[in-house]
Amino acid sequence: MASKLEALERWVNEVAARTRPAKIHWCDGSEAEYQQLVKEMLADGTLIELNQQTHPGCYLHRSNPSDVARVEHLTFVCHKNEEDAGPNNHWMDPAEAHAKIDALFDGCMEGRTMYVIPYCMGPIGSPLSRCGVEITDSPYVVANMRIMTRMGKAAQERIEREGTFVRGLHSTGELDPERRFIMHFPEERTIKSYGSGYGGNALLGKKCHALRIACNQARDEGWLAEHMLIVGIENPQGETRYIAAAFPSACGKTNLAMLIPPEGYRRDGWKVWTVGDDICWMRPGEDGRLYAINPEAGFFGVAPGTSTATNSNALQSISRDTIFTNVAVTADNQPWWEGLPGTPVTDWQGRPYDPANGPAAHPNSRFTVSAKQCPTWSEKAEDAQGVPIDAIVFGGRRPSLLPLVMEARDWAHGVLMGAAMGSETTAAATGAVGVLRRDSMAMKPFCGYHYGDYFAHWLSFDQPGMNLPKIFHVNWFRKGKDGRFLWPGFGENLRVLEWMINRVEGKARGVETPVGIVPAEGELKLDGLNLPREAATELLDIDTAGWQAELDAIGAYLDTFGTRLPERLRQEQRRVASGLSAD
Ligand code: GTP
Ligand code: MN
Ligand code: MN
Repeated sequence: MASKLEALERWVNEVAARTRPAKIHWCDGSEAEYQQLVKEMLADGTLIELNQQTHPGCYLHRSNPSDVARVEHLTFVCHKNEEDAGPNNHWMDPAEAHAKIDALFDGCMEGRTMYVIPYCMGPIGSPLSRCGVEITDSPYVVANMRIMTRMGKAAQERIEREGTFVRGLHSTGELDPERRFIMHFPEERTIKSYGSGYGGNALLGKKCHALRIACNQARDEGWLAEHMLIVGIENPQGETRYIAAAFPSACGKTNLAMLIPPEGYRRDGWKVWTVGDDICWMRPGEDGRLYAINPEAGFFGVAPGTSTATNSNALQSISRDTIFTNVAVTADNQPWWEGLPGTPVTDWQGRPYDPANGPAAHPNSRFTVSAKQCPTWSEKAEDAQGVPIDAIVFGGRRPSLLPLVMEARDWAHGVLMGAAMGSETTAAATGAVGVLRRDSMAMKPFCGYHYGDYFAHWLSFDQPGMNLPKIFHVNWFRKGKDGRFLWPGFGENLRVLEWMINRVEGKARGVETPVGIVPAEGELKLDGLNLPREAATELLDIDTAGWQAELDAIGAYLDTFGTRLPERLRQEQRRVASGLSAD
């Protein structure tokens, strides 16, 4: 036992010798510790108190304007062998990467406190959970990690018992974009991040550990670490089915995880339970089903657009004890962002609000809040065994071609659907309409090894004795000729989820098409929707010529993974393509 703790202490001492802090603080995760940190951050301006009458326990943090988002071009995955990182990652030789970033860490904590944060991703008692330790000089990171993970004493005890943990070293540094790196060393289960205080770069438990490092652990240990929400759908009989869904960033994971059933469904007794909104770890159980946990304990959600109309569960969650980053404030000091009623007086940089400067809240402004504050938070989210997954859903923004919903005919076909996933950019975002960016399984920024090997790992679950979830693909974003969304989306998406559940339970027949199974006439409940008949038809239309071109494009995309692309996936692409030409 002692030697296991020694490994942690030795590493902490090594880091301290390099970074030379004035003080070392081991975080216990207590409320008193959190309040003390808040007090210190209020005193030095790291946090700004918001209106405590309307928003008790809520604070604002304004980050450096040059440090407001993930930085993919400065994010490296440093496998020993370059080939293992794949064309989907930036790679640097591990020795070179260590040397480069260690030089930045030299003496960087002089005169400051170094915090040691033991944390557990997932319920403390779950065999699916994995632990990590983040060392940082940022009290803002400590406060956020306390909300986002199970942090402190209990995690440290588990680490001392197991002896294994992911090592994460972080320093805010000078916030100079020229001196900023986010380095991952998958073989060493180590992360080093320098020069950014932004969530995805600094809260190392989240994207760095729970996705980029964890997907490597998952491959070695036979499980999956995915960029997926987990939602429970309870029918009027009180039976709950769990669905995991991967959509790229800004494609509505948080919305679907907190879905509010349409009026008619609510009346009939349907309920929706939130288990996770961003990351999902899944592992086969003894019965061959996949069991999932949400490794996180909080939400780090995009603020703009969050309103009573779009996501009232999220809005209710953040009415107290929330850290806001880069939002605007109103005259009476309430947090504000585009999409909320009222008017801002101060923008995200602390300037008097002037529309000439752009949006009042930064488009990537965020809230950090404990998941327990969500009105639909599922009791099962704390279950050590995880929840059994009945359906895996892939989706993205596709203004054309992709139907509202389709089901893969089997697991391998589903893996192809996930690999082919993409999102089309809009004119508003890039100036070029209809530019498709492939984002396999919504993991492009997070898959910490070669995508070809990753697809092979997904395919490896298809074995005798397994009882795998059905795989679906959805598209809430198909547009009509008038350029408007054909599908109302949001709460109405429950209609699509109900069809999936009916498929799982053998209650819906569906119609086979060359690209997948779509709902048969009348199977998708549309009553009370006011959806024009043509829209309903168009939403499920399969355009053969368009799909042939799509299959060619998917084939060309798969080619980019070279010899590491599993032959099985290539066969699947050929099978679908030939089904289309026979059609
Ligand atoms: P990350 O947290 O960054 O991984 O992204 P996310 O997948 O959680 O995305 P988020 O929920 O922040 O994306 C919200 C965006 O999707 C907003 O622009 C919403 O308006 C839009 N959105 C969500 N659900 C729907 C839907 O069903 N239909 C339409 N048309 N838009 C939707
Ligand atoms: Mn989200
Ligand atoms: Mn995400």
